[in-house]
Amino acid sequence: MCGIVGHIGHKNSVHVVLEGLKRLEYRGYDSSGVCFKNEFGNLTLFKKTGKLHNLKNLLRGVNLSSNSCVGHTRWATHGVVNDQNSHPHLNDTISIVHNGIIENAAEVKKDLISEGLQFKSDTDSEVFLGLVHYSVRQGMSLFDAVSRSFEKVQGNSAFVIQEKSSNQILAIKRGAPLVCGLNFKTNEVMVSSDPYALVGMVDQIFFPEDEVVCCLTGEKDKPITFYEKNGELSERYVSKKQECGLEPQEKGEFEHYMLKEIHEQPGLIRFLEEYYFLGAGKEVLKNVENEKPSRIQLNACGTAYYAGLVIRNFIESINRIPVSAELASEFRYRDPIFQESDLGLFISQSGETADTLAALNLCVERKVKTYSLVNVEGSTLSRLCDQNLFIKAGVEIGVASTKAFTQQVLTGRIMAESLKGTPSYGELRTKFSLLAHRLEVLLSQVDKIKKIAEEIYNYKGFFFTGRGQYFPIALEGALKLKEIAYVHAEGYAAGELKHGPIALIDEEMVNVAIIGPELLEKAVSNVEEIKARRGVIVILGPKDRKDLEALSDHYIPLNFDGLEELSPIYVNVANQLLSYYMAKFKGTDIDKPRNLAKSVTVE
Ligand code: AGP
Repeated sequence: MCGIVGHIGHKNSVHVVLEGLKRLEYRGYDSSGVCFKNEFGNLTLFKKTGKLHNLKNLLRGVNLSSNSCVGHTRWATHGVVNDQNSHPHLNDTISIVHNGIIENAAEVKKDLISEGLQFKSDTDSEVFLGLVHYSVRQGMSLFDAVSRSFEKVQGNSAFVIQEKSSNQILAIKRGAPLVCGLNFKTNEVMVSSDPYALVGMVDQIFFPEDEVVCCLTGEKDKPITFYEKNGELSERYVSKKQECGLEPQEKGEFEHYMLKEIHEQPGLIRFLEEYYFLGAGKEVLKNVENEKPSRIQLNACGTAYYAGLVIRNFIESINRIPVSAELASEFRYRDPIFQESDLGLFISQSGETADTLAALNLCVERKVKTYSLVNVEGSTLSRLCDQNLFIKAGVEIGVASTKAFTQQVLTGRIMAESLKGTPSYGELRTKFSLLAHRLEVLLSQVDKIKKIAEEIYNYKGFFFTGRGQYFPIALEGALKLKEIAYVHAEGYAAGELKHGPIALIDEEMVNVAIIGPELLEKAVSNVEEIKARRGVIVILGPKDRKDLEALSDHYIPLNFDGLEELSPIYVNVANQLLSYYMAKFKGTDIDKPRNLAKSVTVE
């Protein structure tokens, strides 16, 4: 989850790295730092807990003219949040930044201490610096020291290493994101844990595979070279033109990125429809139409998993193909049973979620064909899957995923249509357009939702309940509220409350009941059980229903007509707004909620 940015260029390296770190703020962090070669050729280190402006305050008055800089935003895994444990870590001649976890750090550190090395922090990352420093002191070149040290550390990690005497930056990774970039005009070279940091800075981007040593020099003839650990040139990297421009990442008239991204959804639905039915996505669908899986093993985490539950309902009802939808963090340790004709389906916004990638690797090992529904093009997931269906959500800055959920579900619906073999996209396009329109209407009438949020945000606890295709929406609604308002909320199958959880219902508990046209009577009787126990009732349900209005303390009327299987997405946006405004009244950091990271790249 940490952010890494490295740069070699012409005297502007520190500014470039600071701009890159700013772009990675959305991932969530607790401290930041930079290490750069100063005017005297020495490595000089500045790092500080808190937000980037704390680091910038430290740099006031410092001569920042430098042609080599590495920077880091830390999301603490080993070692408390303090200045010393922030990155970069520097001894006098070598600095390193790290994203990931060194699982055998304790034993390696113990061996190094027995060799007389001392450590300034209690992080696992500094252990890697110790290994490299120790090997260089034994007379090894920096390259060999890094290669040898990397073999000794276990776990998923990406390291970027800088050395005082050599004007190069090395980088290597295993099971963690790493991307390099080259600017053709200036020969500037960059390395990062997130392609977004390089956007607008480089013309070509490179995705090295695991255990490839990236050597960045910024020199005219060999600005960037890839090696195997034994020093031989490596071909194990993907190179592509930097396509995406710096999308307007400002919040505009919105107070938070999350609210901006909620409002982007109608336009993104139309863009997705155009991409898959009229644009480059058509070719992808031709491949899907030829697939005849006997079963689909669907894996994801968090919001992406809840999107997967909606997609499972689509595929099972439309294609009659059994779908096993699992949390990747469970699937990967379950020793699952595979059949040759299985299809692995992985859903992820970032394409870097460690558990999802581990589940993917399980499928790859068992020679199961793999598909992704992924947002970040060039992400690890997108490079490892046999076929990608990009969800075209654009950069999602808010840590709480909103537009990506909608695009994941709709891309999954398109996939279900294609799996028919002889799809009829016309009818689906009509529903997509209707959904986009309905969401525009909903987003233009947020006052009612805002008012309800103001009346309920301080209650003790929340149940989100739903049946059938609305059960995943109840799960997702509860997650949103937990994430951004820090209140306890549980998503529950409406029919399950009476099997125990109803014991929790009292006048301090709010039940957000999601009621669609299907199974309506059943859903209403569940709400009556809660009402009888003085629970506070919020109903998101069909409009013009006096019975629902009478039954609830707060009623959000929704127009489901014609949406059919797309209704869950429509209700979900109402939930996104409800959670957003409740968090706003609570005054939490909505875009960067405490303890959370945008991409969970550690297990
Ligand atoms: C969603 O709001 C959360 N930020 C989190 O649950 C997220 O969906 C999960 O970590 C999966 O991330 P991914 O889609 O990038 O794989």
